[in-house]
Amino acid sequence: MQNWKSNRNILLGISGGIAAYKIPQLVRLITKARCQAEIIMTDSAQQFVTPMTLGTLSGRKVWTDSDFDSSIPHIRLPQWAEVLVIAPCSANTLGKLAHGLADNLLTSAAIASACPVLVFPAMNEHMYENPATQENIAALKRRGIFVAEPESGALACGDSGKGRMPEPHEIMHEIFRALCVHDMAGKHVLVTAGPTHEYIDPVRYISNPSSGKMGAAMAREAWYRGADVKIIAGPVDVDGYGLSVKHVVSAQEMLEAVRADLEWADYVVKAAAVGDYRVKDYSDRKLKREGRDTLTLELVQNPDIAAEVGKLKREGQVLIGFAAETDNVNAHARDKLARKNLDYILANDVLASGSGFAVDTNTLRLIPRDPSHPERVFTGLKEDVAFDVWSNVLAG
Ligand SMILES: Cc1cc2nc3c(=O)[nH]c(=O)nc-3n(C[C@H](O)[C@H](O)[C@H](O)COP(=O)(O)O)c2cc1C
Repeated sequence: MQNWKSNRNILLGISGGIAAYKIPQLVRLITKARCQAEIIMTDSAQQFVTPMTLGTLSGRKVWTDSDFDSSIPHIRLPQWAEVLVIAPCSANTLGKLAHGLADNLLTSAAIASACPVLVFPAMNEHMYENPATQENIAALKRRGIFVAEPESGALACGDSGKGRMPEPHEIMHEIFRALCVHDMAGKHVLVTAGPTHEYIDPVRYISNPSSGKMGAAMAREAWYRGADVKIIAGPVDVDGYGLSVKHVVSAQEMLEAVRADLEWADYVVKAAAVGDYRVKDYSDRKLKREGRDTLTLELVQNPDIAAEVGKLKREGQVLIGFAAETDNVNAHARDKLARKNLDYILANDVLASGSGFAVDTNTLRLIPRDPSHPERVFTGLKEDVAFDVWSNVLAG
């Protein structure tokens, strides 16, 4: 099922906090994802960002207390919504939600909501740490409402501390997690992603163009589906919101990191492009070009992480490997599947256009070890391909 993230109904409640300046960006992300946002603003929120800005970006009327009339928007909007997101949630609105107050359109809609509710508190750290705020948060959590942990850092009031609202793209992750069916709840997923750097001397290394995007997509989609996810990433940027990310540099470091978490994992996804070789003799000083017309490096094989994982595989564990190939792609992939004791392999022709390294799209052939299961080919955005791969793996 591709594009499960599009055409979703998101009700966005905005209360009076300085973090409201980030909300136009969130609305842009919602419409970019081809979802609909209905927006309710408190009176105070309108001091921080205007209904005109948000209405222009959402392409819809913005609801305020002046609309709180016999057309009962406080009932109709939550009925339409698949998720209610309150961001930023002021200390004041948080208190009202915790106590079941319904004295404006936003709090009335919240108490009328049957859909998942996501609350993003944002305030000065003293307001946040105040026992009244903490008790209000605990009360909401007890009722099954998701309350985001504010981030620490510089606050708009000039203080520094805990109280920052997550960034709009991180709020999008929580929205998608709330909208996704949690068919991987309770599962532990370990993903390797990105390249390795095999250093020759302190300033040079051997590597490959892997961006880590496919591994990150496998991790993110499993997290949306309710799994606990750890990523072991080579030296690339990974959006780690909600995930546990460990960075490593070399293949040997990656192997150690994988070994440490292997027992924990129900699913192991080996999406990293691990260097097969490293230099035999690392030079701890920069190699100089003077006096050398040519330079010969002797390489030795790195440990084969996929094969190692295949040997250590425990009962019930599912191993998913990738085969990044340039020729005889499917044959090489099938061979690797068998040799490395994997359950699935994703054959990836890295020379095909729109496929492979450092692009946002991919074409993958999912080859199961069990020959009674059909092979499937998925093509599209890496995130959609990853979602489809998980659906097939979960279906067995
Ligand atoms: C400049 C300014 C910034 C404020 N920033 C915050 C804030 O970040 N978080 C918060 O909880 N309250 C903040 N407040 C206080 C709220 O705006 C105030 O409690 C208001 O009554 C909230 O109303 P509402 O919850 O109905 O939107 C701020 C007030 C001002 C004047």
